[in-house]
Amino acid sequence: QTLTWKVDAGHSGSLISPTLFGIFFEEINHAGGGGLWAELVNNRGFEAGGTNTPSNIAPWYPIGTKDQVWLETELSSCFERNPIALRIEVLCDENLNECGSGVGVANPGYWGMDIQAGEEYHVVFWLHSSGPITLLVAFTSSDGQTTLAQERLILDESSARDWGKQELFLKANETDHYARLSITSLKKGTIWLDQVSAMPVDTYKGHGFRPELAKMLEDMKPRFIRFPGGCYVEGGRLQNAWRWRESVGPWEERPGHFGDVWGYWSDDGIGYFEFLQLAEDLGALPVWVFNNGISHTDEVATGLIRPFVKDILDGIEFARGDITTQWGQLRSNMGHPDPFELYYIAIGNEDCGKRYYRDNYMVFFDAIKENYPDIKLITNCDGSWRQLDHPSDLYDFHIYTNANNLYSMAHQFDHVSREGPRAFVSEYAVTGRDAGTGSLLAALAEGAFMIGLELNSDLVAMASYAPLFVNNNDRRWNPDAIVFNSWQQYGTPSYWVQHFFKDSSGATLLPFSFESVNSTVPPLVASALRAHSGNPTFDYLVLKAVNFEGDPVQLKILLEGLPLNSIDASQSTITILSSSNVMDENSFSQPRKVLPNVRHFDSLESDLGVVLPPYS
Ligand code: AHR
Repeated sequence: QTLTWKVDAGHSGSLISPTLFGIFFEEINHAGGGGLWAELVNNRGFEAGGTNTPSNIAPWYPIGTKDQVWLETELSSCFERNPIALRIEVLCDENLNECGSGVGVANPGYWGMDIQAGEEYHVVFWLHSSGPITLLVAFTSSDGQTTLAQERLILDESSARDWGKQELFLKANETDHYARLSITSLKKGTIWLDQVSAMPVDTYKGHGFRPELAKMLEDMKPRFIRFPGGCYVEGGRLQNAWRWRESVGPWEERPGHFGDVWGYWSDDGIGYFEFLQLAEDLGALPVWVFNNGISHTDEVATGLIRPFVKDILDGIEFARGDITTQWGQLRSNMGHPDPFELYYIAIGNEDCGKRYYRDNYMVFFDAIKENYPDIKLITNCDGSWRQLDHPSDLYDFHIYTNANNLYSMAHQFDHVSREGPRAFVSEYAVTGRDAGTGSLLAALAEGAFMIGLELNSDLVAMASYAPLFVNNNDRRWNPDAIVFNSWQQYGTPSYWVQHFFKDSSGATLLPFSFESVNSTVPPLVASALRAHSGNPTFDYLVLKAVNFEGDPVQLKILLEGLPLNSIDASQSTITILSSSNVMDENSFSQPRKVLPNVRHFDSLESDLGVVLPPYS
């Protein structure tokens, strides 16, 4: 099959939305706690088991037998909002050699802590005790046999009597990807422990994000980041929904909460402030999705919604208020005196059909617009098939479907009305059998769908793939863009497809046409654009095409209005994503099985010829 692709390269074209492609971060699959957030300790305040005491302290566990050490939770913390502390009774007597090499408590983190030789770790905890203490604070192998890093903490009776913050820096001399933190003592007596944190000193931009994972986000050049969910924002029940207010301020004072939709406790180390900071660090605009008084099972009636509105206005003040405001001051105290660029807010997630959605929506809409007219508001009601009955700047559009369907949805927005608000395709992906845990087939269909979004970006202002991350030890949703465990990470083919679009936002779309010798050859899903390099003397042409068939396609590219000798051949490349089997996936053992392959054009002297392999 041979196709001629004529691109009007000299055309003034039309502008693609500058915010078109971004990312959607949801606390699902341990994406944040045990993922992007570099905190190594899991359940750092012992709150995960609930406020009934004694409670389950998992994943903490004792070091020593019942005769040597007894652990129990108590409502005796020095922190008001997270009242539980751990009481450690050391029952053994060092003088009688009963304590071995020490007894106490260990935390394995999130399926093991990645401790690297030569790296430094900042360990912080709060404690007090019944007498003078000598503690060993260490990173060890999971069986305790190998010590990777260790420091001793010695406190006399008077400095140990009251709750106090202890800080240590531990430098590892060995590597173990599945290590644990241990806090042990040899002295009989009682120790109360709370709010234990262990962070690598080296984090992304020094802001607490796991560097390799954050770098994978940076490489996508996202123009926005939608956060913190998803269903996570709604909660299975309202009492378990994410609340910005509970997630800001000193980490020790954050109560944490049980995310009941995805079924795990979150210490909320990555909170509202950290999301805003992440957006800034990535050069992306934050898009905050807030809970509008509606969960999966319960709703706040519109007559009672006012306190929620006040809560959201306070949240906006936290992001945008100057330092003389109450919440702007807290943001400043947390290290960011300048306001964050919060200009996009979504009122709820997937709640359009719910009983109180529209009425609650209007109360939030009016209050936010009155106070912050420059904030663009996003409704959950899909305006692509009917006119909305309420005002909005953007409407959410979510699609999870099979590969053929998403591929054909490259034309989804071709005939949608241009009247009214623009679309925000805030979640899309191929799911189910076609996708597995991240197939090439799924990625190709997504590529075609994204090309359709580019071509319709006069209507589609923003789009983000979902979900972004999965910790391989807690797969709540398949597939995802980035897979990781405590120490490894790789991109699924869907992640690599996103890379083909990293220069699209703000680029210029160019007109093109296909001609085929054999008129039965279907045109490819394709786009042509001029991306702005930032250097005034040159731009890039980016031509993308998806071959969703089992036969190769021979492409002859004609660039009209652009002589080939004006192109810098040394910078001209062909990038192909394909594999021997369309169901191929990447994995920890083969992280580069399906990867874009980049090569240079052989020559730019005559017509440009490219062969698109089957399914590429
Ligand atoms: O992306 C996973 C989930 O899919 C999101 O939480 C929700 O918005 C959608 O149903």
